[in-house]
Amino acid sequence: MKNDFWRFRRLRMNPLIRNMIAETTLTKNDLIYPLFVIFGEKVKNPVGSMPGVYQMSIDVLVDECKEIVELGIPAVILFGIPEHKDPLGTDAYSENGIIQRAVREIKDKVKNLVVITDVCLCEYTSHGHCGILDGEVIHNDKSIELYAKIALSQVKAGADIVAPSDMMDGRVQKIREVLDENGFENIPIMSYSSKFASSLYGPFREAAQGAPKFGDRKSHQMDFRNSDEAVREAEQDILEGADIVMVKPASYYLDIVHRIKTTFQVPVAAYQVSGEYAMIKAAGAKGWLEEEKVMIESLFAIKRAGADLILTYFAKEIAKLIDRKII
Ligand code: PBG
Ligand code: ZN
Repeated sequence: MKNDFWRFRRLRMNPLIRNMIAETTLTKNDLIYPLFVIFGEKVKNPVGSMPGVYQMSIDVLVDECKEIVELGIPAVILFGIPEHKDPLGTDAYSENGIIQRAVREIKDKVKNLVVITDVCLCEYTSHGHCGILDGEVIHNDKSIELYAKIALSQVKAGADIVAPSDMMDGRVQKIREVLDENGFENIPIMSYSSKFASSLYGPFREAAQGAPKFGDRKSHQMDFRNSDEAVREAEQDILEGADIVMVKPASYYLDIVHRIKTTFQVPVAAYQVSGEYAMIKAAGAKGWLEEEKVMIESLFAIKRAGADLILTYFAKEIAKLIDRKII
């Protein structure tokens, strides 16, 4: 090169030129909006630690889904809060479970929306753990039988994609097997592959009422000190048949997003979890941070790291900013 030094600033002087050379984009197609569905009618309970997020009964949820389609968001992921919990989490795989009913209603009344269902047991078990307990420990192989049952019942109700979030070993293979046996070989699996035992799920546990009654989730969710292991978790899920792999949480785990994307070149999702949302909202409410700007920056950072899809409670706000050409 002839120049003694490169003038990076030349391309930064004008907003139009900055837009022309921007390397990362954020579009509505990147967004998946999480929703919480609860029993009852005309229910819209605000979640204290997540301003703007509600537990909704099915009738309210259907209207919400219509609004989401109008905003141009392609997909939602549903979490259910059942009326009845028991040690085996039976409402999770009952034909008339909260999620199964919600999916049927949405599919009946709302067009052009990808409905993703979370596959786990913690919201449905009386003990709040993500599987069947053997003493105080989750029994891996008995639990994965149940996840397959949950996934099948959700798909029978009309779910477009299933998303196992339990972190038991071998569950993707088991779910794939059972879906295929039942003629659902075209239903994708978006696996929570590299899900860390994080303190950032606190607000979600209030929203979904699935906190463990004793102990924690460290015997199945990953240790946040590990990165090689996160890559091997993703590899294993891909080998078992996952179509999309997920990293969760997102912002504190951008190195993991990047490693998995560059190693496997498969679609990668990142979950900007409840705690990430709550921190930005809380600092914004106090006037300590500019909420909208931090929100935008956080989502671009996740995209830049390599995520193709972002599960985020900000999805509606982002879609509105895109409509106003602010993004
Ligand atoms: C259930 C599940 C959790 C989240 C998604 N699915 C909670 C947990 O593992 O305890 C967290 C999502 C969020 O915090 O926004 N297994
Ligand atoms: Zn769980």
